Amino acid sequence: MAKTSVISGFYKLPPKERLALVAEFAGLTPEETLLLEQSSSLPTEVGDHMIENFIGVFPEPLGVAVNFQINGKEYLIPMATEEPSVIAAASYAAKMVRDGGGFQTSSTTPVMIGQIQVAKLKDANSAQTTVLAAKDQILKKANEQDPVLNSFGGGAKDLGAKVIDTTLGPMLIVELYVDCRDAMGANAVNTMAEAVAPLIESLTGGQVYLRIISNLATRRLAKAWCVVPKEALGGEAVVEGIAYASVFAEADPYRGSTHNKGALNGIIAVILATGNDHRAIEAGAHAYAALNGKYTSLSRWTKNSSGDLEGVIELPMAVGLIGGAVKTHPIAKIAMKILGVKSANEFAEVLAAVGLAQNLGALRALASEGIQRGHMSLHARNIAVIAGAHDSQIDTVAEQMVRDRKVRVDYAKEILAELNKNTPP
Ligand code: MEV
Repeated sequence: MAKTSVISGFYKLPPKERLALVAEFAGLTPEETLLLEQSSSLPTEVGDHMIENFIGVFPEPLGVAVNFQINGKEYLIPMATEEPSVIAAASYAAKMVRDGGGFQTSSTTPVMIGQIQVAKLKDANSAQTTVLAAKDQILKKANEQDPVLNSFGGGAKDLGAKVIDTTLGPMLIVELYVDCRDAMGANAVNTMAEAVAPLIESLTGGQVYLRIISNLATRRLAKAWCVVPKEALGGEAVVEGIAYASVFAEADPYRGSTHNKGALNGIIAVILATGNDHRAIEAGAHAYAALNGKYTSLSRWTKNSSGDLEGVIELPMAVGLIGGAVKTHPIAKIAMKILGVKSANEFAEVLAAVGLAQNLGALRALASEGIQRGHMSLHARNIAVIAGAHDSQIDTVAEQMVRDRKVRVDYAKEILAELNKNTPP
């Protein structure tokens, strides 16, 4: 039978049964499955090697979004998040997009930018000319730092130099453009930037201060787009509502930031689950949203001539399959296996599709019944737990709070007291 990410009633299954289905989909070994089942901790030696002053683990729930079809391939999406409704909304949105043929994606070559700041120059413009004329020499020095990256076809491919005006005077910013292949690239790029700094100082007579990667990865972009049939959304009025929401976010940074946060809800959950650097992704996303001088939305939604919804998102996506926690964190490794991506580019494109799905899920709710109904019914389960509900009581208490539109701890306690009164000890 063909592999599919559509698993009917997945959300109603107990966690163990869900895990068994995911294990079958992703070909997890019994050891990996057991590790996930017991994943509320991290081996001490792993944690102690990952960070400094390690004292324990902060567990975050890990779930799986279903229904994703991207470029015709089926994906289950591992997501780590503290926020109820994120995974449900992503799965729901992916199902609607599936009705329109799934997500399509593209990405640029995985090029990161390394910056070298050259100050105290007599003439920044002539230093710029000198550096550009020495491009081959500088690139050679950079590439000597990483023969492995070179052997995979990556490495420092090009160089730029720009003069910027600052309150401490003009300075030259030299930029290395490094194809990082399947690595996120921070280590490779920073090593190269540090290695070429003395050469740049001797070429220009200036003083180098910073030598560091830029998180505004405009040369490493991922894009996803989709068509959602109006029937899947509940009619043309919802399509229109989403189109209006889109122009609101495009025009107003106060809305744009929340709109983008909705997309990042999905992207960051996958980034966390797979042990990637979520600060790099968020910094890049927001800086990209403000690239033209005014903060705007990363995605756009329009009604097409058939009355269906079309959406597109584009953002920097500096992610890797190798290096960092991706290869050391045991659960991140399993999450990567569940995702089943074969290259950093494929990974970046899947993340863009997840962002677009998450954004759609939020906008559909906002443009129709509002966000609170779905949100509250999931939030109600949290409140039930806080009030002391256990096992099957959790759903009973949550359902009654939602039915009565009173999602509050005091009311949960009241329902619970009533339930306990009627249950023999
Ligand atoms: C909440 O985490 C995310 C939303 O605010 C996103 C949005 O408003 O588009 C619902």
